[in-house]
Amino acid sequence: MYFDSHAHYDDAAFNADREEVLQKVCNAGVEGIVDCASDIKSLERITELAERHKYIYAAFGFHPEDIGGLDEEAVSLLYDYAESCARTVAIGEIGLDYHYPDNPSKEMQQDWFIEQIEVAKDLELPIIVHSRDAAKDTYDILKEYDGARNGGVIHSYSGAPELAREYVKLGFYLGIGGMVTFQNAKKVAATVAEIPLEHLLLETDCPYLAPAPNRGKRNDSSNLQYIAARIAEIKSITPEEVARVTTENARKLFRLEDV
Ligand code: NI
Repeated sequence: MYFDSHAHYDDAAFNADREEVLQKVCNAGVEGIVDCASDIKSLERITELAERHKYIYAAFGFHPEDIGGLDEEAVSLLYDYAESCARTVAIGEIGLDYHYPDNPSKEMQQDWFIEQIEVAKDLELPIIVHSRDAAKDTYDILKEYDGARNGGVIHSYSGAPELAREYVKLGFYLGIGGMVTFQNAKKVAATVAEIPLEHLLLETDCPYLAPAPNRGKRNDSSNLQYIAARIAEIKSITPEEVARVTTENARKLFRLEDV
């Protein structure tokens, strides 16, 4: 059984056939999904999804690209949703994204990242971290503000094994997604080869980032099998072992026995 530690089924890309896709995903052996918030509107949509489906868990937070225009009221909304949803398992996705120059300023992203780390500490929840083109600042903030106090995952990890080791030392899991199946993704393959399976989670980040052989298409959790197969190939173990251990890791990180 697979566990998708990072998905966005609240995304409009699923509006036409969401329930059909979720049925297909369940039939493909996916036992759990964490649906991650991004903007303020997604908070309500995710609450509804998690209430409707017992295998969907909720993560509430503001993505660094979606913090423009947020004020302190957004922080109290974050508390409200995270505390009132019975199936909240994390704060996320939160972090830093320096990829596009017209994203919110670095300073503003850092303020929101730190503020949401504090929310997670306050609520004793793990965090789901987004980091793109911001490796050093992400690591420094997580270290300085004790981001791993209640555990966490560096989602869609695509960096080198050296940094991966440092994150593992802090207590983070690494989320491995479709990128690992891409031929040119040498760094993430090297990371998967080196970091023990006990520190890895599977994720899709759907509807984005579909793995080969479905690269470029809309992604969904039934594609976890291709990610597991590639990890198995790199580590010379069976895909079943990858599925079993990464699902166990997710259950531990998100404390699913408590939900
Ligand atoms: Ni995401």
